[in-house]
Amino acid sequence: MGGVTMTDVPPLEVTGLTVRFAGLTALDSVGFTVRPGTVHALIGPNGAGKSTCFNVLSGVVRAACGSVRFGDHELTGLPPHRIAGLGVARIFQNLALPPHTTVEDSLLLGRHRLTSAGFLSAGLRLPSAAREERRHRERVREIAAFVGLEKYLGHPAGSLPYGLQKLAELARALCMEPRLLLLDEPVAGMTAGERRRTAAVVAGVRDSLGISIVLVEHDMGVVMRLADAVTVLDFGRLIADGAPGDVQNDPAVVRAYLGERTDGTDGEETGDA
Ligand SMILES: Nc1ncnc2c1ncn2[C@@H]1O[C@H](COP(=O)(O)OP(=O)(O)OP(=O)(O)O)[C@@H](O)[C@H]1O
Ligand SMILES: [Mg+2]
Repeated sequence: MGGVTMTDVPPLEVTGLTVRFAGLTALDSVGFTVRPGTVHALIGPNGAGKSTCFNVLSGVVRAACGSVRFGDHELTGLPPHRIAGLGVARIFQNLALPPHTTVEDSLLLGRHRLTSAGFLSAGLRLPSAAREERRHRERVREIAAFVGLEKYLGHPAGSLPYGLQKLAELARALCMEPRLLLLDEPVAGMTAGERRRTAAVVAGVRDSLGISIVLVEHDMGVVMRLADAVTVLDFGRLIADGAPGDVQNDPAVVRAYLGERTDGTDGEETGDA
């Protein structure tokens, strides 16, 4: 696929990020850097602060302090649509495509921020608008083929098996031509076959589009196979950061995942690793 090239993708630099909710410190001075064109996994037990981190990155939650720099832009303080406009696309943990809308139309809506002629609104059918619509439909077909959904374009999203619906969400995010993709548990609830297929698509996105991907995922098998770097959070604190192999064997990480906690609660499932 054309469009985005590696050189367009700046690093994402998170420093000293702190988020508080009424007495609870959900993120406590967390920092990490996502190198351009890499898959960076953000892992940790339930409640560690992973989704909160995504919420800050996408502008849904305000940080108490700290900074998120994406190239020349400071993201903290920007509203979600401005962050999206900088090429940061997010797939939510529990948000599906409209079930009765065809996959093609959902993907076309994903291109909305890139449209100038407003072809989605009925009204004046200028030749330039028709041309633009054709161009966007071509790109939608290209992206659908890339994730392996081409033959489902005319189907209502809700009629697809779960794994394909999740791939359609990924395709919709790709339709925004993002430079940074935030994936929150992309393989949760999938069968083993769907997991493999989705992981292969994510690897393909990195390798052929060169965009950066931040991946929140409990399935350690998928994390270890896909990630170029891993940041581990526990109770809002960064407890490890580095190459997947090193992080996996880090005693603090093993402790957090085995549930050896001072508060006596159980640890987190480690997926099908
Ligand atoms: N809007 C909110 N208001 C109050 N507390 C919140 C809010 N969002 C998250 N929290 C709390 O912040 C902490 C971190 O939650 P977060 O959802 O970021 O964890 P997570 O790492 O994504 O967990 P999971 O793996 O279960 O998705 C939790 O204790 C959670 O209850
Ligand atoms: Mg979460």
